[in-house]
Amino acid sequence: SLTILAALAIGYLLGSIPFGLILTRFSGLGDVRAIGSGNIGATNVLRTGRKDVAAATLVADILKGTIAVLVAGALFGFGSDGAMVAGLGAFLGHIFPVWLKFKGGKGVATYLGVLLGLAWPAALAFAVIWAATAWLTRFSSLSALVASLLTPPVMILLLGENRIGGLFVVLTIILWWRHAENIRRLIARTESRIGGGKGA
Ligand code: G3P
Repeated sequence: SLTILAALAIGYLLGSIPFGLILTRFSGLGDVRAIGSGNIGATNVLRTGRKDVAAATLVADILKGTIAVLVAGALFGFGSDGAMVAGLGAFLGHIFPVWLKFKGGKGVATYLGVLLGLAWPAALAFAVIWAATAWLTRFSSLSALVASLLTPPVMILLLGENRIGGLFVVLTIILWWRHAENIRRLIARTESRIGGGKGA
């Protein structure tokens, strides 16, 4: 329907804003795609050495997902299909931004932002699982893989949110697919750790 298309468009437009690229350029750090993993996310922005720019990227990429859900919620109803579809749109917008020839990020921060807008207790669980895994292993990618794997069960089994849980099954599959190179590097023990250092 028109509502669903409008929600998808609102989400996509917000999600497709490449904050990592914009913030690094404005900070005089050049093109973040030329360093580290080549990704536009906060983890790779951190490899510039600028913690403040990385933190700003993280917050902005989270909030664009949350705002997409809240704007669609205000327009079409909180807990409506529109709010969920706007979240899907934001996630897809971050990963496939038209402005970057559809070559965007891996979706972790925006996944968390959408989760925050749709079911904040699950976002809290994601953040705790991410932080615990990162504290133990210092791998940003592995932390996102573990936290996203556990999000649908948290949604469905603990919160009883089956519809949102179903959406997050889809988002988790896409997030894992976007981390294919990270998974290969983790297995090969060549993945870089937060704060530098390679391998296991
Ligand atoms: O947010 C993406 C993160 O999980 C991995 O980023 O730059 O290490 O590939 P990166």
